[in-house]
Amino acid sequence: MLVHAITPNTSYEFAADVRAGLTTPGQKELPSKYLYDDVGSALFEVICHLPEYGLTRADERLLQRHSYDIVGRLARPIAVAELGSGSGRKTRQILEALSRRQLTRYYPIEISRAALLMCERELSDIDSVSILGFEREYLDGLLEVAAQRSSGQHLLVLFLGSTIGNFDRPAGIQFLAEVRRILMPGDSLLLGTDLVKSSAQLLAAYDDELGVTAAFNLNLLARINRELDADFNVAEFEHEAKINHQNRSVEMHLRSMRRQTVNIHTAGISVDFFEGETIWTESSHKYSLQEVCDMATATGYRCEAQWVDEQWPFAENLLVAK
Ligand code: TRP
Repeated sequence: MLVHAITPNTSYEFAADVRAGLTTPGQKELPSKYLYDDVGSALFEVICHLPEYGLTRADERLLQRHSYDIVGRLARPIAVAELGSGSGRKTRQILEALSRRQLTRYYPIEISRAALLMCERELSDIDSVSILGFEREYLDGLLEVAAQRSSGQHLLVLFLGSTIGNFDRPAGIQFLAEVRRILMPGDSLLLGTDLVKSSAQLLAAYDDELGVTAAFNLNLLARINRELDADFNVAEFEHEAKINHQNRSVEMHLRSMRRQTVNIHTAGISVDFFEGETIWTESSHKYSLQEVCDMATATGYRCEAQWVDEQWPFAENLLVAK
């Protein structure tokens, strides 16, 4: 077990992204990847246990129930790469099913080192599985994994939890195409997608009554204070989830409750907020089954199979590179 870590000049990049997102005219925004520092990743783990947020449990149930069917449809021998491994709990099902047939190399790719370490701890006991983690952005990590494969070895890429939904639709399609470009024919992508559901269900899922999701979102401002020498008064902002019917998405915002100015020293900026102005932090797009297949077919995959949870509309989609 080994962690490939790089610590590039990430705080410089963070400062540059914060500056760009908060000073570009119009809707202020912050990239959602910055939600997941150690505090944010821990809060997200709690979100996954909330009764209102059925997404993760649906993902887990599907993998628990169908991992043997999924694995049975894969070319072999095969190595597994995962984009955003999180805790690794869901991946266990797939790895255990695979380890019955072969020795398996598992490459988790994560930007959070804490999450990477947690996942390695969680999965290290599975026989016949060796883990090699990459602390990288998804596509950079996947390129490195692809470079490591031996000849004739196929790749199964896991992209679970409906993270694809955090791209807008065109960017999601582009991402599928970029992953496809790294794959060889016969490689597979197991893609989790949250499906369209009622507004009430979505609003509860993204604005729970305990306020954990609010804390998760607001942690981004606290993180900017911690890492970029800023003076956000976090109590003067509130979490907001709103449905965008046209895009079939839930939008997450941080709303300034009054007029105020915030100084972010490391980014070299002072930012004015009017009362009610928001910072857009993430959108979560919801799909239909047909739409997922259409996106896959348009980007060089064959839609091999789809499994849908009975309790929470969510699908596992097995896409095979053509
Ligand atoms: N990828 C998750 C999702 O879209 C992340 C998430 C859950 C999230 N709750 C959130 C992101 C609240 C921002 C705010 O479901």
